[in-house]
Amino acid sequence: MTLECFDLELLGGKTEQRYRAMRPDVEAFNWGSIDTSKFSPTLINAAKQAWSRAALQEYRTGAACCKTLQVLIQARAPIDLIALLSRFITDEIVHSELCARLANEFGSDIEIGYNPDELTDNIGEGCPPILHAAHLVVATFCIGEAMSIPLLHNTSKMSTQPLIKQVLRRIVEDEADHGAFGWAYLDWANHHLSDTDRAELAITADRYINGVYQTWKNIEKQKGTTAEQAHALGWLEVSEYLSIARRTLKKQVIAPLILRGVFVKATEQNSTKGEQTSPNSPRVMPE
Ligand SMILES: [Fe+2]
Ligand SMILES: [Fe+2]
Repeated sequence: MTLECFDLELLGGKTEQRYRAMRPDVEAFNWGSIDTSKFSPTLINAAKQAWSRAALQEYRTGAACCKTLQVLIQARAPIDLIALLSRFITDEIVHSELCARLANEFGSDIEIGYNPDELTDNIGEGCPPILHAAHLVVATFCIGEAMSIPLLHNTSKMSTQPLIKQVLRRIVEDEADHGAFGWAYLDWANHHLSDTDRAELAITADRYINGVYQTWKNIEKQKGTTAEQAHALGWLEVSEYLSIARRTLKKQVIAPLILRGVFVKATEQNSTKGEQTSPNSPRVMPE
């Protein structure tokens, strides 16, 4: 299939005004304030690539939230959980816009291809709605969002460019709820699940955790990034990223999954190639 070019469009007029009213702080950001003359052409290109890819990643998370929302409604999950999840779709679309606008700060001459049919993964299909939703929640929230929150939080703390810091802080503010949602759903659903269901959830978790390990292996190969350059452009330096990510996976993902009877087996040592890719976006400088 031919890839389509990923870009974002605004309808404008009253529709845009209503959209802006939902998140009034975004337009007030100091847009147009990044002095790109401080960076080499290679770094500017890397920044365009990284922020455009981050925009697509946020967009994909929006699509994953939509998919999970439909299955939660089919499962007649508690309505407060459903309502909270429906807000996340707007959050992710706003995050995608924020990242795309940061990419534009470095120049708009970049095209990112994407396959609309592969925006979301097919997980748990054919299972009853409560279990189907649990598979989606484990992959997107208990692993993807739980992994990205401490990485984003630390990236925003380390960031030395004011506009980039502002954007990262804004994203982190929303992400706290996204991380908590996964565990809240799993705690509600767990009473309806059997040991066999939890064993199936552990298989999904292992696939995605293997994807996280593969991401780390790719990141480990990236050399030559100084912490100063990374922090100026809104990333973490490779060793910072890996140490935060390893701690997060152990304490914020694997331990809470095991606590809920989802006994994951994947380890960094036995991870294999070709597993599911990590749903969260790496926050390190690309090669
Ligand atoms: Fe996001
Ligand atoms: Fe999120």
